[in-house]
Amino acid sequence: MPTANDHIKATLLVKNIGQLVTMAGPIPRIGDAMRDLAIIENGGVACVRNEVLAVGESDDIERSTPLALGATVIDAAGGVVTPGLIDPHTHPVFGKTREDEFEMRISGKTYQEIAAAGGGIRSSVRDLRERTADDLRERTSRRLDRLLAHGVTTIEAKSGYGLSTEAELKSLEVIRELNEQHAIDLVPTFLGAHEVPDEYRDNKDTYVDIVINEMLPQVIDRKLATFSDVFCEENVFTIDQSRRIQAAARDAGLRLRFHADELASTGGAELAAELGATTADHLIHISASGIKALAASGTVAVMLPGTSFSLGSKKYAPARRLIEAGATVSLSTDCNPGSSFSESLPMIISLAAIHMGLTAAESLACTTVNAAVAVGRETTHGQLVAGRAADLVVWDMADYRELPYHYGVNLVRQVIKNGKVVIGEVK
Ligand code: NIG
Ligand code: FE
Repeated sequence: MPTANDHIKATLLVKNIGQLVTMAGPIPRIGDAMRDLAIIENGGVACVRNEVLAVGESDDIERSTPLALGATVIDAAGGVVTPGLIDPHTHPVFGKTREDEFEMRISGKTYQEIAAAGGGIRSSVRDLRERTADDLRERTSRRLDRLLAHGVTTIEAKSGYGLSTEAELKSLEVIRELNEQHAIDLVPTFLGAHEVPDEYRDNKDTYVDIVINEMLPQVIDRKLATFSDVFCEENVFTIDQSRRIQAAARDAGLRLRFHADELASTGGAELAAELGATTADHLIHISASGIKALAASGTVAVMLPGTSFSLGSKKYAPARRLIEAGATVSLSTDCNPGSSFSESLPMIISLAAIHMGLTAAESLACTTVNAAVAVGRETTHGQLVAGRAADLVVWDMADYRELPYHYGVNLVRQVIKNGKVVIGEVK
């Protein structure tokens, strides 16, 4: 059992934890290992500043860890503690919301019909281009507040509602500033190829050239992104166009992620595996060969059941087949104004249970260690073990299996980010 060094004093102690979900053990969690959460019953966690100092049984931790002057002590009163959740796929930078389209969809129009008529992503693009960075920062910050309140302490955040050099850079600058200002960590992704903007509808290849030759070099120059993403989809970017964009991004030093096989089976997962992408996301229509390819390449399969739910579809990503094949799987909100407008990762965990057959343990593996791999933070985040980030959530439940079961309400009691309480009271 890890013991605290006597000379180091804890700045935060969480004690009397009914189930301390540490996630110690293999990274990523694959297959049956997903069900092992490395739980310590009646546990305690000591942190020093922004790092975990020690985890163990509550009494042992309390006895062996001297407290620094003014240290925060939280009595979890038998509740559950998990690592801070990680959301590996969000589109948080947008202006107006699109409830008008939601109403059209519940009365029968499809997402693709609305998009083809100039709505969808393109309507968000026209709106975002008119807004100032200040306005966008303010709106995005409120979305981050809601993610944090639901237990999320790190997200991947995409641009993609600008689709011009100026508006994409503006979006990525907003992400950079919020990463500095907000408690949540944001891992930035350049998604210049989210859609073809109005002015290039008849000239898609020219737009692809602009993404590669104008946008990408500036994104790299200003160090605005870690990842590059593309919406590889029927009527959006073809396999060839996606390959061109992502090969250029990879050569420029970015890591890759893909929107793949969301609305139709186009071979996006196979392409993601071929290019060594970190993630392939959506995968509702992934083929058998796509599943095999992801399992072989280690590309994380990020599943987004909120989109099926919100688009009123009965078809969900084949989670069980992906797990059986040995793929690394993860889960995300896909928080965006069109296909999945939610900042609640716990709600997504409920959808994953009911529609994809994931157990609570599997979903926790998806949203901690596996999500850490999906955002490239697996050496620092996603586990509560000595030396990792002091990001944790105290839940108002005695058994972690309540997480998917008790749905549609927020069961977060406290959120601790970098060793500081950022949500909830401390008595
Ligand atoms: O991940 N698939 C593409 N992008 C988003 C939808 C964006 C929107 O409708 O605004 C998604 O589902
Ligand atoms: Fe998305």
